[in-house]
Amino acid sequence: MNSGAIGIFDSGIGGLTVAAAVRQLLPNESTIYIGDTARVPYGPKSPETVRRYAREILDWLLHQDVKAIVVACNTVSAHALDDLRTRSPVPVIGVIKPGARAAAHATTTNTVGVIGTAGTIASGAYRIALQRINPAMRVVEQACPLFVPLVEEGWLDHEATRFVAEEYLRPMRNHGIDVLVLGCTHYPMLKPLLREVMGPEVQLIDSAEATAGELARVLNELGLVAPARSAVTQRWVATDDPARFAKVGAVFMSGSPAPVELAELGKLDA
Ligand code: DGL
Repeated sequence: MNSGAIGIFDSGIGGLTVAAAVRQLLPNESTIYIGDTARVPYGPKSPETVRRYAREILDWLLHQDVKAIVVACNTVSAHALDDLRTRSPVPVIGVIKPGARAAAHATTTNTVGVIGTAGTIASGAYRIALQRINPAMRVVEQACPLFVPLVEEGWLDHEATRFVAEEYLRPMRNHGIDVLVLGCTHYPMLKPLLREVMGPEVQLIDSAEATAGELARVLNELGLVAPARSAVTQRWVATDDPARFAKVGAVFMSGSPAPVELAELGKLDA
């Protein structure tokens, strides 16, 4: 047993969907969530830059003595997971494998759609994970970079978002997918709209719940589960503009993440 906190990080606010799933499944666990709001978005950035940013966050979290780390960001999981794992003395869990596993389990046609940031789609990380599970899997991929700013604007059910979704997803409908992986932290917020655009025969897979399940499995396996009666704490940390983090964060969780601390990642090097 171990009452240390679990570190959860994302490029910004979207990873709160994963934090909420962790809180729901593991209410006895303390968490420290850090969102790199100073440098978001990671989606359009190069793999090298994303890896460098992710290492800085890893170092910051390890300074907080976390017992495990959840990479709640799809783009970081796609570009940096192996690198983080080789550097971390504590287990590091990403969102891609759990999401791919859930999708492979759900599809009956072995034809899966994946949407994500430009970086996640360019990396092919979901396709690779899905085809590792089933080499015969057909994977149809589409980057949807405009979804992130639309969600942050709170335009979850808005004509502009519907128009953009139609543009991105229309070609996918002709491929006979029966499962669509929402391979970005922000996309679960668009579930009702995406369900309308894709139709009822396409199941939407959100990796947040699957990732919380994977975290629970790892904590159990390594004997890191918090004792039932330990005091539970939650810290919310941003690298810029804590007030905006709290405000926009409320869109991603029931209740606003507050109070929000400010961290300066560069300070660790000093
Ligand atoms: N958190 C990112 C992801 O899941 C989306 C936002 C960004 O581009 O940084 O890929």
